[in-house]
Amino acid sequence: MTAPLLKIDNLRTYFYARRKQAFVRSVDGVSLEVGRRETVGVVGESGSGKSITAMSVMGLISSGPGVIGGSIHYASDKVQRNLLDGLENFVQLEQSDGRVMAVSKDERGWQKASEKLMAGMRGREIAMIFQNPRASLNPYLSVGEQITEAVRLHGGITAAKEARERALHWLERVKIDTPHLRYNTYPSGMSGGMCQRAMIAMALSSEPSLLIADEPTTGLDATIQSKIVDLLQELKSETGISTLLISHDISVITRLSDRVAVLYGGAVVEYGPARQLLDAHAELKHSYTAALLASVPNEQKIRARANLQAIEGEVLDTINVPPGCRFYARCNRITPEIRDKCATLHPELKEVAPGHQVRCWRFVN
Ligand SMILES: Nc1ncnc2c1ncn2[C@@H]1O[C@H](COP(=O)(O)OP(=O)(O)OP(=O)(O)O)[C@@H](O)[C@H]1O
Ligand code: SF4
Ligand SMILES: [Mg+2]
Repeated sequence: MTAPLLKIDNLRTYFYARRKQAFVRSVDGVSLEVGRRETVGVVGESGSGKSITAMSVMGLISSGPGVIGGSIHYASDKVQRNLLDGLENFVQLEQSDGRVMAVSKDERGWQKASEKLMAGMRGREIAMIFQNPRASLNPYLSVGEQITEAVRLHGGITAAKEARERALHWLERVKIDTPHLRYNTYPSGMSGGMCQRAMIAMALSSEPSLLIADEPTTGLDATIQSKIVDLLQELKSETGISTLLISHDISVITRLSDRVAVLYGGAVVEYGPARQLLDAHAELKHSYTAALLASVPNEQKIRARANLQAIEGEVLDTINVPPGCRFYARCNRITPEIRDKCATLHPELKEVAPGHQVRCWRFVN
């Protein structure tokens, strides 16, 4: 069996909240994999650690202490390495009952070693697209020039004419109308949807093995959103690019994902095949996933103008993480038999069906 393209294991990324003199446990033991030609969707409420997981993979966390543990194995045809290899030597953790109480980190040593491990990765092996594409593009360069620049920098094509041709080819592939004209257009002269197409062209033009898309449709009009999803779907089947797709929009996740990871309070609470996980009627399900699916407006609710069913309770405070299940305060599926465990012990992810894991005491015998 071939190794997955990306395998994140027990990743922990913390920040220090000076005012509260405590850690923000943004990513607290995330494990997930992206296979070759696979799209893995990551869902979860705002603040659940989706973007910080992605930024940790890209080595782009700049506030301290940042990444403090775990491994990120990457294995494309060209590069095989743990992007956190040996970095644990720069961190010392004081732990009590598996909980990090204090961190001392040699930031400079870590950064230097991390940059070495990330050499040739960003843009070339792993490309990223974000929400708000206009802000991610350089306002002073035409979109064509920016894509050409990316091709020269990451795509291994140094000849100017060839790089320009590759850029034009990608403008066409992302279905930007009249690519020759658009080549010279500045981001300010393009709509949000067009800017996102240009971003996708720029990301894919260097033919990376992994695309990380962080809320690629958020902030766009509904019809434009749907067209961007169509485009991503087409590019997925044409290029077979592996994708880590972050979105709070379940319909986007449903359309594009092969597997899904549900994040809650910095940890994966459910992970498995998209079809099983997104089936609102399936028995084997984390109560948080069930609540997320119930909060999605279906056609009937939209027609009836019913209020969206918000998930009851407060989003987890990742500074004062409770000792038991992180969803305890909001869970409506606790039974008397497991209540004590739910309140005091953090459950492990447990396989409930082949390739389908849930973090809940209800599924532990
Ligand atoms: N530099 C930082 N310093 C302190 N806390 C941070 C920092 N960056 C992120 N956080 C916190 O980490 C948590 C996870 O943030 P993250 O951006 O990953 O959330 P998200 O799941 O992407 O949410 P959203 O859906 O709103 O984008 C949040 O509580 C956020 O406030
Ligand atoms: S472990 Fe308990 S509190 Fe957590 S999701 Fe399961 S039933 Fe709910
Ligand atoms: Mg985010």
